[in-house]
Amino acid sequence: MPFMSYLISVLRSGASITTVLTLGSTGGYVAYKDHSRFPRMMSAYRSGGILPPLEENKFQLPYFRRPNLEKTLKQCMSSTLSNDYHLVVGDIGSGKSRLVQEVIREMMTESSGEGAPIYVSMAQGKTFADTLAEAVHFAFDEHISFRFFCDYVLGIHSFPKKDEAHRLTRVLDAIEKSSCDYLKLTGKPVVLVIDGMDALVKYAPNTMRKLQEKAKLWADTNIVKIVFVSSNVCMMSELEDSGWSRAAPPVTVSDLTDEEAVSFLTSPGTSDTAAPMNAATAKSIVDLIGGRINYLRVFKRDHLCGVEAKVTASGLLRREKDKFLSASQNPSQWKVIEILRKSPRKTLRMSVLMAQTSAEDVASLLRSNILCIHSASQNLEVKFESRLAENLVDSFDAK
Ligand SMILES: Nc1ncnc2c1ncn2[C@@H]1O[C@H](COP(=O)(O)OP(=O)(O)O)[C@@H](O)[C@H]1O
Ligand SMILES: [Mg+2]
Repeated sequence: MPFMSYLISVLRSGASITTVLTLGSTGGYVAYKDHSRFPRMMSAYRSGGILPPLEENKFQLPYFRRPNLEKTLKQCMSSTLSNDYHLVVGDIGSGKSRLVQEVIREMMTESSGEGAPIYVSMAQGKTFADTLAEAVHFAFDEHISFRFFCDYVLGIHSFPKKDEAHRLTRVLDAIEKSSCDYLKLTGKPVVLVIDGMDALVKYAPNTMRKLQEKAKLWADTNIVKIVFVSSNVCMMSELEDSGWSRAAPPVTVSDLTDEEAVSFLTSPGTSDTAAPMNAATAKSIVDLIGGRINYLRVFKRDHLCGVEAKVTASGLLRREKDKFLSASQNPSQWKVIEILRKSPRKTLRMSVLMAQTSAEDVASLLRSNILCIHSASQNLEVKFESRLAENLVDSFDAK
């Protein structure tokens, strides 16, 4: 029947035309998406960025400026060709993250689209790969990537992998290629600040290793400057790995000086109603806890809420005492504490302390955040973690 065969051939050709059109338009769309990926990433490199929830926080205590550190950090995070990758180190709670974020915010407004650092914290988001991708405006677009399209729809290759390591490789690969173009276009490297190195080392060591390798390669080729933010303890243990020897000398964020600490406590807070703290109270707080900003801010916040300093102090001391609890029941760990507290300035060279005690006990006290290490004139020195810990250790005896 000519009519029937005609109808079938029309339907058949219609179906093939539809298939060809669908594949063609989908293919075109995904190719466009792949093509537009790099321009999107370049715009992130130009503007810099901090992702929510760290992007802005109006409910924090007002930022206390630290001009010398800000200047050094600005130099370290500037998009100059340095052939180096960088480290920002300091004790836990010394104010590294806040400082880095504030300096980046300032650099972002100053740069007006000519390049500013991109900040990524391990603490943000679901996984590091996802957070990094979001920060550099890289969309995985798994459903519409051209490769996925070829792999899945046309069956050219096997089904693409979607695991975490593969996702990280994809983002790093895209950063590598796009920052190469960015360097050619602007003459500047991309600056990537990675905060929370402690957590990466602890929970995602493979990610950390990969980042360290990239940091070296990217520093050699000047396409991306990575700035790692890490606690002293984490950095000291990492330094045993020779991989870090290629890094520039670290920028150290130390505690506030006593004068700075008093000025931080006596400066006004966000609330207009509460009167700032008086200098005598501030001085007595600093004598007790020193210049660790993480402790100082608790006193300041409580003062602004009408809580007396002695109430805050007893709460803080109670929590600090709890830290010592397990050490006080472990004779060999307590021996380390005893030796250190009887030393001049309650400080000892690491090698001297190790000779009299065991590496295991010292490491365990470092992990419990009772002790900390600093490098001083080529030597590693062990101290109590803060003035608060130092004062507290004198007030009780070993069980
Ligand atoms: N310069 C500063 N001014 C005001 N608050 C600060 C300042 N630096 C740190 N803080 C506050 O102290 C706390 C600890 O600081 P953070 O930056 O997280 O320390 P670190 O990253 O070194 O562990 C945070 O609540 C932070 O907002
Ligand atoms: Mg931090």
